[in-house]
Amino acid sequence: MADSSALIDMQNISKVYQMGETKVHALNGVSLSIEEGEYVAIVGTSGSGKSTLMNIIGLLDSPTEGVFAIRGQRASGLTGRQMAELRNREIGFVFQQFNLLARTPAWRQVELPLFYANVARSASRKRALEALAQVDLAERADHKPDELSGGQQQRVAIARALVNRPSLLLADEPTGALDTRTGEEVMALFEKLHEEGLTLVIITHDQEVAERARRVITMRDGVIVADSDRAAGAAKGGLNGLSEAPLSPLAWPVTIEPVEEKIYEAG
Ligand SMILES: Nc1ncnc2c1ncn2[C@@H]1O[C@H](COP(=O)(O)OP(=O)(O)OP(=O)(O)O)[C@@H](O)[C@H]1O
Ligand SMILES: [Mg+2]
Repeated sequence: MADSSALIDMQNISKVYQMGETKVHALNGVSLSIEEGEYVAIVGTSGSGKSTLMNIIGLLDSPTEGVFAIRGQRASGLTGRQMAELRNREIGFVFQQFNLLARTPAWRQVELPLFYANVARSASRKRALEALAQVDLAERADHKPDELSGGQQQRVAIARALVNRPSLLLADEPTGALDTRTGEEVMALFEKLHEEGLTLVIITHDQEVAERARRVITMRDGVIVADSDRAAGAAKGGLNGLSEAPLSPLAWPVTIEPVEEKIYEAG
């Protein structure tokens, strides 16, 4: 049954790609709901449909069949433009390859989504610097990607994902290109953001990364074959067996200390 209180609600979603003569069933009737404030890991072998699922959750792609709703709003009824607006407002993306622009200072990368959201230039620089401070990179605002470590580049990408103050952060293998220690730092950052109220969905191949989530969803051949929340929920109110209460979504967005005006001149 549809869950209109959920942040994300998917009912019987299928995604079929037509490849010449053949059809690829990337998703085969996936039903899933994610509440505000959850911390979810999606695991599964290569080709099991994880990124396809993420693209649908992130309004980057439409399902072939089924109902997808975000905050009770069905995506199928929206125009492309409305979908883009909703995506901009609600969702931040982080990818394995940080997808930063070459030869562009960190603060400008982070500012870019605000440009698309028509935020005034005067405000957008300030917000970009605040987002960089949130990922502990205030001092690297003028650095270009080749002047940053891998972990720092990923943190710039995370700041860029956060700058619109989304309610949901989707990360596809965010630690995949990082060494273990740097990956740890990025996970610690995600956990801090989650504690501040951000809803997190992380796709990972890494069992250790998955184990840090409150809920683990396992995919195989385009279907969900395990969901720790459902398993635990049957026993006692969800949360993967933990006694911890869900965090209030009202804690997000967090308040960020203002950044000194003089830093802005540097760009
Ligand atoms: N644009 C596309 N056109 C055709 N087939 C696609 C497309 N995108 C994905 N597929 C196919 O759909 C299936 C699911 O792909 P998806 O990218 O969701 O897998 P994944 O679980 O993210 O894998 P990985 O762990 O390797 O990233 C695969 O068989 C893939 O080949
Ligand atoms: Mg993938």
